[in-house]
Amino acid sequence: MLKVLTILVALIAIATYGFISYLQRSPELPKIDYERWWGKGQKVDEDESVRPFKIEFNDTMIADLKSRLKNRRPLTKPLEGIKSEYGMNTIYLEKVLNNWVEKYDFKERANRLNQLPRYKTRVQGLDIHFIRVKPKVQGVKTLPLLMLHGWPSSSKEFQKVIPLLTTQRTGYDFVFEVIAADLPGFGFSEGTNKPGLSGLHIGVIMRNLMRRLGFNQFYIHAGDWGSNVATHMTTVFPDEILGYHSTMAITSRPYSYLKLFLGSLVPNFVMDPKYVNRVYPLSDLFSYLLRESGYMHIQSTKPDTIGVGLTDSPAGLAAYVMEKIGVCTNRDQTNTEHSGLAALEQEDVLDTLTILWNTNCIVTSTRLYAEGSNKEAKIVDNIPTKVPTAVVNFRYEVVHMPVWMLRDKFQNIVHCSFYDYGGHFAGLEVPKELADDIFKGMAAILEYRKRNSLNF
Ligand SMILES: *[C@@H]1O[C@H](CO)[C@@H](O)[C@H](O)[C@H]1NC(C)=O
Repeated sequence: MLKVLTILVALIAIATYGFISYLQRSPELPKIDYERWWGKGQKVDEDESVRPFKIEFNDTMIADLKSRLKNRRPLTKPLEGIKSEYGMNTIYLEKVLNNWVEKYDFKERANRLNQLPRYKTRVQGLDIHFIRVKPKVQGVKTLPLLMLHGWPSSSKEFQKVIPLLTTQRTGYDFVFEVIAADLPGFGFSEGTNKPGLSGLHIGVIMRNLMRRLGFNQFYIHAGDWGSNVATHMTTVFPDEILGYHSTMAITSRPYSYLKLFLGSLVPNFVMDPKYVNRVYPLSDLFSYLLRESGYMHIQSTKPDTIGVGLTDSPAGLAAYVMEKIGVCTNRDQTNTEHSGLAALEQEDVLDTLTILWNTNCIVTSTRLYAEGSNKEAKIVDNIPTKVPTAVVNFRYEVVHMPVWMLRDKFQNIVHCSFYDYGGHFAGLEVPKELADDIFKGMAAILEYRKRNSLNF
């Protein structure tokens, strides 16, 4: 009997070991075409110059937008006692829409956006827009920093952070030159004409953009979809990306998910008990994800359908986008009218809406969800990277992944900080804290590179 039991236990141990090694295996990097064409039709030779660009909210657009907002049909009132539990609160929405028509100063906001130098250049068939700001000081080490936003944002999300990064501060012997790009199909960057433009291939575009600007090696800060793009870049170009700072670092390796489940048996053992409630119990996590991820399913499957209404109605666009911005800023406030939006300056939110409306990029940006995890991207997801990585965890970030999971993907996490406030749009909500953390994270990355005799 004992013998049978021993054999059984041994078999289970071998099977478990085999299964875990199988999950830990890292696949080969697939062949990626670094010049893949996303423009219309056949590949052509393009003007590769870098052209200055200014944002313009013109009178025709403003008049049309205001007339649509004013002539909207009456909004349906929320049920008695309901705040944001059923989605966007229409009483709150009405106030914001009225401010958009009456208080929002389109020209002044455009001027403000244009205070940062903007450019466009064509990469792989698409017109890519970016902000580029050189530091105000000289004689200090300058780190080129590519900043990548997510949905439904644009480089505008970093407007308040950029000046803090390009200014030298005491205690640091470096400063940043910032390149904040709009992802293709977002903000003022052209959307793809062909299917298949996942975060992986956007990463190739962003790397080619940086080369165009003369940066063969650089650092990245990113959140949301930008962090998906950046993560692929650290995996495909580990010698070109010198360091990565993220507000939403994610490992998508199957092995990490196995650990997530196993960790739920002993959460206080696998994580600092102070932060356990950001992940466990998994039942809370999954009910929150289920409650808030309907948009993701729609956008991953039928972006063009939902896009029709959002393209035609600024009120519909505002409701759809603001509901998500609110909840991602503070998911615990669906029992309020503003659903978390109160933590942000309303003008920032209206900038986001105006940019989405002006360039009509709601469909092209939502399509990224449908392209997000194609086969090649999934394979790259499962390959770890050695690029030194810094992680900041704001309280209400949409997804929190503990370091013991993240290390499956990012083998060299050199900085990890926690805030008990702040949400998904940290650049808008807590720009100072975000800039502080980028400096701290990059200092740790530089220290790591020096200690390991890596270049730069
Ligand atoms: C005004 O801006 C819109 C973009 O929202 C553009 O489609 C249109 O061509 C512009 N009109 C003029 C007269 O510049």
